Amino acid sequence: MKISKVVSNIPASPTLAITAKVNELKAAGKNVIGFGAGEPDFDTPDHIKNATIEALQKGDTKYTPVSGTLQLKQAICDDVSADYGLKVAPDNVIVSCGAKHSLYNLFYTLFEGGDEVICPAPYWVSYPPMIEMTGAKAVIVDTRKNKMHLTADMVKEAITPKTRGIVINSPSNPSGMMYDRKELEKIAALCVENDIVIISDDIYRKLVFDDIQFFSVATISPEVAKRTFIIDGSSKTYAMTGWRIGYCIGDSSVIKAMTRLQSQSTSNPTSFAQKGAYVSLTGDQTIVEERRKIFEKRRDLIVSKLKEVPGFEIIPPQGSFYSFPSIPGHMERFGGSGGLTNYLLENALVAVVPGEEFGAPDHIRLSFATSEQNIINGIDRIKEALAKL
Ligand SMILES: Cc1ncc(COP(=O)(O)O)c(C=O)c1O
Repeated sequence: MKISKVVSNIPASPTLAITAKVNELKAAGKNVIGFGAGEPDFDTPDHIKNATIEALQKGDTKYTPVSGTLQLKQAICDDVSADYGLKVAPDNVIVSCGAKHSLYNLFYTLFEGGDEVICPAPYWVSYPPMIEMTGAKAVIVDTRKNKMHLTADMVKEAITPKTRGIVINSPSNPSGMMYDRKELEKIAALCVENDIVIISDDIYRKLVFDDIQFFSVATISPEVAKRTFIIDGSSKTYAMTGWRIGYCIGDSSVIKAMTRLQSQSTSNPTSFAQKGAYVSLTGDQTIVEERRKIFEKRRDLIVSKLKEVPGFEIIPPQGSFYSFPSIPGHMERFGGSGGLTNYLLENALVAVVPGEEFGAPDHIRLSFATSEQNIINGIDRIKEALAKL
């Protein structure tokens, strides 16, 4: 059968493919250590599960409003007000089937052929394909020369009369880097000057280390807030990746248009999953801090272990649960991180994600959403396999 041009050009999500490959090897009895996971290894907290089971048993099983229940949207507004100091109303919020879906709906609503959207690299794998599905061009700005931090000068250079949007992701997947407040102010000023919409993907904002204060571009000024769309969701903070609840907060006319798009595609996200998301936001938050501390400890461990690997260089991640070492000592032999990744899977039974997928072919991504023992054993195996070369 003929496959449409748009869909033919969509690459399959590489991170999901690596998780599937690891599961396949494990099912075949191989002792694989996986650093590919883009999700917390913890389970959803019990109080969230229990409230959801209760909602299900009480008949919370019908369609909800397309953009989500008022109860959840109000809880999101309260969360934004508490954490960002921004006053938003339920008509500034749409709840979708994961933050990925919110991003898809947002890009599709805002962009089209002829538009350009600035996307700093290393980037999350899905931004460029999602931008390009709309017909717009993803303009990749390489930040590797500046320790993976975007600067206003880099943005200035990338702006053309066609620039309509910019994606900001802090803490970043894959680099774990966070944006500096002063730099963000300069970038935001350029966006105001050039009428550029800001997509602020804040999904890792509760996973920040070293007492760094999360700072969102949306809070710079009311003028910047007006042109910013915040993306967030339940997946990473509350270990709810399978529940598929994400949301977008921003200008009400755009949210209304996104709701029209959602109404003709998925309709509402799952009714009882919305109840779980509501309880996650309004219930006890102790576990969020407990888990953040566990991730921080693992971050320290993985950074010190990666420093032991000859030919690797690591800038400690400031947030998220990803480390993103560069591999200068192995580029010549493997020609890029894809070759190294295959070698490690075959010779060390260790799964990492090649940096090519994130616009940084001289890096690999290792998620530390796995146990300390796996981190120690996995990186020891990498060292041993590389020592054999
Ligand atoms: C930067 C970033 N944004 C958005 C998402 C999507 O999250 P979800 O669709 O599970 O809410 C992810 C997931 O990996 C991510 O890393």
